[in-house]
Order: sequence, then structure tokens, then C-alpha cells
Amino acid sequence: MAHISASVYTSHVPAIGAALDLGKSAEPYWQPVFKGYEYSKQWLEEDKPDVIFLVYNDHATAFSLELIPTFAIGCAAEFKPADEGWGPRPVPVVQGHPELAAHIAQSVIQDDFDLTIVNKMDVDHGLTVPLSLMCGQRDPVHGAWPCPVIPFAVNVVQYPVPSGRRCFMLGQAIRRAIESFDAPLKVQIWGTGGMSHQLQGPRAGLINRAWDNAWLDQLIADPAACAATPHIDYVREAGSEGIELVMWLIARGAMADVAGGPAPTVKHRFYHVPASNTAVGHLILQNNR
Ligand code: DHB
Ligand code: FE
Repeated sequence: MAHISASVYTSHVPAIGAALDLGKSAEPYWQPVFKGYEYSKQWLEEDKPDVIFLVYNDHATAFSLELIPTFAIGCAAEFKPADEGWGPRPVPVVQGHPELAAHIAQSVIQDDFDLTIVNKMDVDHGLTVPLSLMCGQRDPVHGAWPCPVIPFAVNVVQYPVPSGRRCFMLGQAIRRAIESFDAPLKVQIWGTGGMSHQLQGPRAGLINRAWDNAWLDQLIADPAACAATPHIDYVREAGSEGIELVMWLIARGAMADVAGGPAPTVKHRFYHVPASNTAVGHLILQNNR
């Protein structure tokens, strides 16, 4: 059977992708950000997942006001980097895992979660920046990401957005789905976006270090309590885009301790300001089964 080896959590600032693509990662502004991912890149090479289930949000790139799926699973064989206005990022095309994605869709929908099945989709910075941070730059033509990726898009852009509680329950259903797939695959689940940031209005630029770090503490130690955080608290405390953090609860819900197993091991924790308008947070939790 397939199993989950770890969960990874990281912010997804688009300027990080631009810094990498334009060769600016050694500049004094960006150096401390990338330093926080040095361990992570080495760890990923050692963990060697067969598939990454990557929870992210689309920023009105693949979807628009015409069609707003709350939860969408990418079942295609490949996903191209999207053109977000500056041309597509020069990174490899993302290879999917249609068989596992279809199995997860079947299992999770039968487990009473409504997923939108997506058979054609471009992926924006919400997905490609976490991959770049964790895997480093890869040649867009001759290179490849280390393994297939199943994109799982959550609507945190257009209201109404799903609650942290529902995301946490969905993560539990995704764990059941992965662990019932009849092939010996090692799967990582990633929750991305956040931490505190607000991109518009009078509070643009808002960062809340104390709240972010208390939220991280609770996500690690008491995820069920963390999942009870009402959506308005994210907006008030972590800014309008801080709501992206509910996606981290999907990955956390898939860890074994939530189903009565042992607590995960914290392999890495990193927090840094500034990175564009966002507080960058990053965690690696090894799943103990
Ligand atoms: C920024 C952060 C985001 O999450 C995003 O989607 C766009 C921009 C920023 O910090 O600039
Ligand atoms: Fe974003």
C-alpha cells in the first residue's frame, strides 16, 4: 500500500520565483530566505518521495470568477507553468500521477467531500514557487522535478472560502485515500501559502510575527485546536491573504497522530521577514506511523 512519509509547509511568494529565475538568490535581501531552505533541499533528496500531493491555491490564473471550485484535484498527466503576466516561469513542466489522483478523487468523494476533477490546468506561483524552494532551480527543457506531483487547488481567493476545520477533515480523508492505494508508493503531502500578509487596502503590508509563530506552535502540537481557528481570525490577525494558511491544515490532517498514531517529528522550522509582502514560514514534519 502507499504511505505518507512527511508533510511539508511553505509560503509561496511570487517574487521568490522571480529572484530565482533572474539569478538574484545570492543578493543580501534574498540570501536569508534561501538559507532557510538549504536543509530542506538536502532532506528532500534523502526522503526521495515517489509522489508529492501538493495543496496550493490558484490566483485567478487557471480559474477565474467564471468558475470557482472550492477543492480541485489535478488528474492530468502534466501541468504547464502558467503565464501570470510575465510569461511562464522557466521551470520544468509538472508531471502528474493520474492513477493515484483518480484513486484519491474516488476515495475522497465517496468519503463525502466534493472535489472538482481537473483534467487540464496550468499551475501558477502557488505551486511552482514551493517546488523551486524545495528542489532548487531545474532546467526547464532538459531538467525535471524530482517526482510526479498531484496539484490540489483550494479556493482561498474568492469568498466564501473553506474553513480550517473542513480543510483539516479533508486532510484526514486524503490520508485514508492515499493509504488505500494498492502500490508501494512513498507520498509527501505539502501545504502551501501564508503566512501573514495583506496585499491590498489600508492594512497592506501587515505582518504579525507573534500570531504566526503561536499558530505554528499550535499547528505542530495541537492541530485540532488550530483547525478550530475561525476564518475571521486569519483575516484580522494574519491579513486578508493570511487565509491561505487554511491549506496547511489539509497537510497536517493527513499525519498519523490525527488518526490516533504517534506525533510527527519536527525535522525543520523556519520563519523569516521580509520576503516581498509576506512572512515566510516553513516546516517539515516527518510522519511517524
Ligand atoms: C505576494 C504573496 C502572495 O501570496 C501572492 O499570491 C502574491 C504576492 C507578495 O508577498 O508579494
Ligand atoms: Fe498567494
